[in-house]
Amino acid sequence: MLKKIESARKNFEDDISKVTNPTTLEELRIKYLSRKGIVAQLVEALKEMPKEEKPKVGQALNQFKNFTSEKFDELRTKFESHSKSKREFIDLTLPDRQYTIGSKHIITQTLDEIKEIFKGLGFSVYEGPELESDYNNFEALNFPDDHPARDMQDTFFVTKNFLMRTHTSPVQIRLMTEKKPPLRAIMPGKVFRNEAISAKSYCLFHQVEGLYVDTDVTFAELKGTLVAFAKQFYGQDVQYRFRASFFPFTEPSAEMDVWWQPKGKDGRWLEVLGCGMVDPNVLLNVGIDPEKFVGYAFGMGVERTAMLKYAINDIRILFDNDKRFLTQF
Ligand code: DAH
Repeated sequence: MLKKIESARKNFEDDISKVTNPTTLEELRIKYLSRKGIVAQLVEALKEMPKEEKPKVGQALNQFKNFTSEKFDELRTKFESHSKSKREFIDLTLPDRQYTIGSKHIITQTLDEIKEIFKGLGFSVYEGPELESDYNNFEALNFPDDHPARDMQDTFFVTKNFLMRTHTSPVQIRLMTEKKPPLRAIMPGKVFRNEAISAKSYCLFHQVEGLYVDTDVTFAELKGTLVAFAKQFYGQDVQYRFRASFFPFTEPSAEMDVWWQPKGKDGRWLEVLGCGMVDPNVLLNVGIDPEKFVGYAFGMGVERTAMLKYAINDIRILFDNDKRFLTQF
């Protein structure tokens, strides 16, 4: 009898080690602990034992019985707490996960605004590639090989003859080569300069180039167009001035400054764009007869323009993608 109990215990241990879910646990309970289960059968057998053996066997049987029900309870609680924690996980009262919707970057917004204003002034929008030939970026724009103006721009050369454009002016060349005048377009895009990064300069920024070529374009029209732009962009009461300047691709050339007045601090003039009458050499380079056609051109930095308008004092913040900054616009 003791041996029977011992082997029943071994079987039970073996069986219970294979239990993985409440269903198999219940099958095991029926097999061992139900009214006709193995434990009950052993209790029946105990009754037939000789009197003097009963206490010893009875004790062993009791131990077995306690052992089985203990193990059984242990597993049942384990399964119950498991399913309970699962139920708590599906909490239908929890609010939905919030997804934030992105918005246009302040530079894109500024570009859009500039485009809208110039579209209103009769300009179309034309784009060129960021990887440009040395010819389009410098040569055709009247920068000779050894011209000191080339030093004004620290260029990222990709090969000897190809570079990351340092300004959007080469798009003028592309436009005038591809299409016949009259031409009136703005050319927005990214430009690249191999400059030390600081609060004022970054290796990448945006420009908007403008070009108007026709038979009777004047400097007065250029000024009128830029003033109309500045009033729409910065506000009707914007203060501006034009200064004589130099660019290889325009003659005469000028720069436009806008008065910058931070609250409670000293104001100053800030240069916002370069401009001028297209140099006859540039027209010759693209096969347009300078005796017949004249043009004006201008180019402005978008970051500079946005920083001025929104009082941003460090250009790097425009490229950081910090949501605390971006969500302010
Ligand atoms: N390309 C010049 C620059 O990057 C800006 C510029 C000046 C563009 C005068 C023009 C212009 O079209 O006429 O600094």
